[in-house]
Amino acid sequence: MKTNSSPSLEKIITAREIQLKVRELADQISLDYAGKKLHLVGVLKGAFIFLADLVRFLTIPVQVHFLHASSYTHTQSSGNVHLAHQLKLTGKDILVIEDIQDTGLTLSRILEDLVQQKPASLEVCTLLEKDRPHTKVINIRYTGFKIPNEFVVGYGLDMSERFRELPYIARLS
Ligand code: IMP
Ligand code: MG
Repeated sequence: MKTNSSPSLEKIITAREIQLKVRELADQISLDYAGKKLHLVGVLKGAFIFLADLVRFLTIPVQVHFLHASSYTHTQSSGNVHLAHQLKLTGKDILVIEDIQDTGLTLSRILEDLVQQKPASLEVCTLLEKDRPHTKVINIRYTGFKIPNEFVVGYGLDMSERFRELPYIARLS
């Protein structure tokens, strides 16, 4: 009997390509924040692998923080973004580390929230950005890859908590 439990995956970005891109982003961030102490805020859960790889290529002192954001149910954005954190970053240079920008709702909620802490600066680094009209337009300082408007998994990104462990990015087909 055939079951539907394993959707087929098609690799769109290899582990090697990701590694090169993460190094390139880290080099640029290290240059831009030279002489400063940078506070990275990873968006859980999706950004945990990206952040872990990124910090190892940075050459500036950083502090690592996390916040938890959730909005997705299965493969659709619910539009309702729930945030949880205990951050105190007044006067700090903040760089939000996100896995993917889709509608932009999650990042805009996060930025609205963090700006209330009156940081010295507040920027965003996302590994992936979907090629689609974003519901919210956000100024993203660092983007790894622009990808087609398809649901992807791997390298931290999940579908109902599956596939985060893949070392590459794949589309579900
Ligand atoms: P947005 O609020 O629509 O921009 O969605 C952002 C969040 O939804 C991301 O932080 C991801 O956690 C999740 N997400 C969006 N697109 C995908 C995808 O293709 N695969 C897995 N998660 C996604
Ligand atoms: Mg996310």
